[in-house]
Formats: sequence, C-alpha cells, structure tokens
Amino acid sequence: MQQMETSKPAARKDDAAVKLLKVAIDGPAGAGKSTVAQLVAKDLDLLYIDTGAMYRAATWLARKQGISTEDGEAIAKAASEATIRLEPGDESTNGRTRVYVNDEEITHAIRSHEISDLVSKVSTFSALRKLMVARQKEMIQRGGVVLDGRDIGTVVMPDADIKIYLTASVDVRAQRRLKDLQALGESPDLEDLAKAIAERDHRDSNRADGPLKQADDAIAIITDNMTIEQVVHAIVRLCVEQ
Ligand code: CDP
Repeated sequence: MQQMETSKPAARKDDAAVKLLKVAIDGPAGAGKSTVAQLVAKDLDLLYIDTGAMYRAATWLARKQGISTEDGEAIAKAASEATIRLEPGDESTNGRTRVYVNDEEITHAIRSHEISDLVSKVSTFSALRKLMVARQKEMIQRGGVVLDGRDIGTVVMPDADIKIYLTASVDVRAQRRLKDLQALGESPDLEDLAKAIAERDHRDSNRADGPLKQADDAIAIITDNMTIEQVVHAIVRLCVEQ
C-alpha cells in the first residue's frame, strides 16, 4: 500500500543557484538588518556587503578632513578620491564588518554616536549617493551577495532574487541600539536614542534620492517579537525554497 504524504516539504533550489543569489535587506535603523544579513550570508555562503558602513566611512572622512557636513559636493569629491575597503568582521569586532579608509582602520570609530547622528544627513547628498551606488553595483555584478541598507531593493539591486523589508517599533529599536552602544563603552540615554532613531527614520524616508522605502516586491518582516535566529531562519527559507 502506498503511504500518503501529509506535508510535503517545499522544493529546494540547487546549491549552484543558491550560490548566485542576490539578497536585499532594507529597513530603518536598529531593525537588526546588519546582524541578520551577516548570518544569512554565512548560512548560505554568500558575501555580505554592509552599505551603511560605506556612508558612515564617508561621514567619518568628512569629519577627519574638516569638510562641512553641509557640503555634499566636497564630501562626494573626498569620498571619490578615497579607497573605502570592507572586510568580514570577527569576534573582536562583534561580528561587524571591518572598515578601512585609505588603509586606516575605522571599524569602531564609525559606530560612535556622533557619526550615527551625522550619517543620515550626509547620506542625503545625491552626489555621494551616486558614487556609493555605482561602487555597490560593481561589487554585486557576479551575484552571491547579501546587501543591507535603505535603497537596496529599490535602487542598488532592483533585480534582487529576494527582497526583505525588516522593521520593528521605535521603542524596540532604541533598546537594541542601547545594548550595542553599551557594548562599545558608551552610556547613552534611552529616550535620547529613541528620539534620534525617529529623526533618522524621518530623514531617511523623506530624502529625495534613494529614500528608505519598502520595494513593491519586498516581503516585510516585523521583528519586535522575534529573535535574531527566527528572523534568519525565515529569510534563509525564503532564499532556498523554489
Ligand atoms: O545600522 P543602522 O541601520 O543604524 O545604520 P547603517 O545601516 O549603518 O546606516 C547608517 C545610515 O546610512 C542610515 O541612517 C542611512 O541614512 C544611510 N544609508 C543609506 O542612506 N543608504 C544605504 N544603502 C545604507 C545606509
């Protein structure tokens, strides 16, 4: 007698197809994008590209060179003359991408409160966005990548195989940010953090060029009551199922 199948597991893409995937993860600050994107990339053996780190590096460079954060053209020029290099993180960086500008390591410096506050202003400048998007498009040409940011599914990788829009309430995101900054030795106020996050959301969502926006074909995941593992598992499943 033939056995009846009750729940048939979804068909899995073959490994060669998984290795070429383009995965876009967008969402507001503190939704857990970078942690999730890194773990998804590790699980599927893809390259993780932290695009926020590139805007942070440009912001750090502007400060270092004494360029006004109001002067978009000058910031874009400085960034175009600089080499921004990303390398995979490890335990000593809390898993965060290692970032170098002209061979100077700025992995920790770009995570400071100061840079976090300035970066959403700096990243509104079209001249800088054009440069960063062009560099990101070069990096993704061969596929096999997971990118996180604000404009990945809409501008950088509109042809991504999987688009995720990761979000959470402002309160939950502020709590998460508090923990991150405490780990770096900072002791910010929770309410101030929530305010800064709400302001950053507003600026990111309302800029003319590459605003934070859920792509029409993105799948939204609200992470308030989800662990990192649950989110990663959900995205990996979406990536490997046919
Ligand atoms: O980790 P968190 O979401 O706080 O920030 P991030 O991903 O490091 O990005 C920092 C800032 O860079 C964001 O607030 C955006 O203003 C900007 N950004 C952007 O404009 N476009 C991207 N693709 C990535 C980041």
